[in-house]
Amino acid sequence: MKKRVAVLSGDGIGKEVTEAAVAVLDSIGRRFHHKFEWVYGLLGGAALDEAGHPIPEETIKICEESDAILLGAIGGPKWDHFPKELRPEKGLLQIRKHFELSVNLRPVQAYKTLLAFSPLKEEVAEGVDLVFVRELTGGLYFGEPSYHTDDQAVDTLVYGREEIERVVRFAFELAKQRRNKVSSIDKANVLESSRLWRKIVEEVAAEYPEVEYEHMLVDSASMKLITSPASFDVIVTENMFGDILSDEASVIAGSLGMLPSASLRADGFGLYEPVHGSAPDIAGQNKANPVGAILSGAMMLRSTFGMNQEAAAIEEAVRNVLEDGYFTGEFKVDGSNVLTTTEMTEKIIEEIEKELISD
Ligand code: NAD
Ligand code: IPM
Ligand code: MN
Repeated sequence: MKKRVAVLSGDGIGKEVTEAAVAVLDSIGRRFHHKFEWVYGLLGGAALDEAGHPIPEETIKICEESDAILLGAIGGPKWDHFPKELRPEKGLLQIRKHFELSVNLRPVQAYKTLLAFSPLKEEVAEGVDLVFVRELTGGLYFGEPSYHTDDQAVDTLVYGREEIERVVRFAFELAKQRRNKVSSIDKANVLESSRLWRKIVEEVAAEYPEVEYEHMLVDSASMKLITSPASFDVIVTENMFGDILSDEASVIAGSLGMLPSASLRADGFGLYEPVHGSAPDIAGQNKANPVGAILSGAMMLRSTFGMNQEAAAIEEAVRNVLEDGYFTGEFKVDGSNVLTTTEMTEKIIEEIEKELISD
């Protein structure tokens, strides 16, 4: 099968981890006889530097002409003082909105060999397999008005019924394929938008009697995520809560660098990116953990291209390398098992191509 993928590496470690994901996907191409055509576009700070805009028209065109989008990360101190319309983050938000990527999946798994590196006790993190279904194109991120003067700042939190229903329904459908449990996280004791959210969750839940569901307030949910993460299956929540809680949940996996994500449109088109940012503190040092980006590539294969076996091959290769005791440097281990970004990527590719040799 031939697939055309827009690659928007962005800034900082975005470039390093995207290169890793592309290399792994090329090795999947070799093993399973697919051809991926990579079309590179500018986004974020890199786009500001070269084209004066965080998301140039050309980038939108490249994405429109592609079957999926692979993204690294954007942003960094160099562009933090830019006016809001020209911030790198605006480029990312615009691409999510433009392509109607309203459902953002962020799976979190605790790999056995990494349990020892999680700040959580092993018995707490063990067996965790949860997924965030984060609403991605509404809420505080996009509500108008949004401005500040020297004396006042305004952000607007607005949600329409359809926006909520779409993501909640997605979560219940997903739960049916998993362990039949949905935890909906809101702040219904204070926010009107959460009261509508809760009402819609109940309406949708009535259509899924086989799925157990619960409402949780975001403050206590953030505590429960750390004290009993294994009690969660599918977590559905609005844009801002999902952003914050998913970074929090990355400690269960041992590192923010481990988490992949898929941002999906209703017809299956998607943008795939790791959950982490451009990590200016380690950029350019070949230190970044590429696993989140590589697993985002696996999500692309499964969700947009329907290549289930190929996606599983990446996930298995990642698992094997981790279980063999290889890590990138943010895991505090002494000795020779600490790999650079490129070494980790090569190890994963070796695992994938082992099968090629034995086929
Ligand atoms: P960050 O996610 O970039 O980094 C947070 C911490 O995690 C840092 O210490 C970093 O070194 C570490 N880390 C992140 N990814 C890692 C990886 N793959 N391997 C090893 N360590 C990793 O968050 P930040 O520092 O708050 O933000 C930096 C910039 O990234 C900001 O401009 C922000 O807006 C942007 N950002 C972009 C995205 C995105 O493009 N989707 C996501 C989050 C933040
Ligand atoms: C993420 C990031 C973005 C978000 C920023 C960079 C706009 O933190 O993808 O998690 O808040 O959604
Ligand atoms: Mn985030």
